[in-house]
Amino acid sequence: MRLSIVVAASENNVIGSSGGIPWRLRDDQLFFKNLTLNHCILMGRKTHESIGRLLPGRTTIILSQREAYSVPGAHVAYDLNAAEEIALALGEEELFVVGGEGIYALALPHAQRLYLTRVHTHIEGDVSLPAPLNLAEANFRCLKSEPHEKDERNEYAYTFETWERHQKD
Ligand SMILES: NC(=O)c1ccc[n+]([C@@H]2O[C@H](COP(=O)([O-])OP(=O)(O)OC[C@H]3O[C@@H](n4cnc5c(N)ncnc54)[C@H](OP(=O)(O)O)[C@@H]3O)[C@@H](O)[C@H]2O)c1
Repeated sequence: MRLSIVVAASENNVIGSSGGIPWRLRDDQLFFKNLTLNHCILMGRKTHESIGRLLPGRTTIILSQREAYSVPGAHVAYDLNAAEEIALALGEEELFVVGGEGIYALALPHAQRLYLTRVHTHIEGDVSLPAPLNLAEANFRCLKSEPHEKDERNEYAYTFETWERHQKD
């Protein structure tokens, strides 16, 4: 099963601020929806609580080490292995890791694919991608890079990038 990270990050690697996402990019939300619809998504307990509901049309696995933590309609996993086993048992071929910081840090060393929306701004925030994030050094290669201008639906310019990890020879 492929482990894939889905993340939007500013040029200075910020992904969150005050428990939310510090930009409004409607076409990134649409991209996220189309990518993950009818699939299994994995998120940290804090990201789940910041969204405040389960995303419809997806199976949600929440990572938490709190005892007896449960969310009706979602699976709760204690660690990454347990989350992957749940997704496998559900017949999934790809598990989408959708944040936040702690969960990206956990999944990045094991991820085969990264869907990165690079938001073209430097912005203040209190949650960032795990540093240092050198994708080329981590053996990722860019498969796709699709730039978009800012417009009335998207408050910053942004680029959809797809990165895939290649096995070392
Ligand atoms: N830009 C983006 O694409 C994007 C995507 C998602 C989220 N975000 C932003 O990121 C922020 C939230 O991220 P965050 O880092 O604060 O929280 P988070 O990663 O969503 O959740 C952290 C929680 O996950 C659980 N956890 C962490 N490591 C674990 C492990 N090794 N095993 C099991 N459970 C583990 C713990 O839950 P317990 O305390 O219950 O044990 C921990 O408190 C928000 O601002 C959100 O808007 C941005």
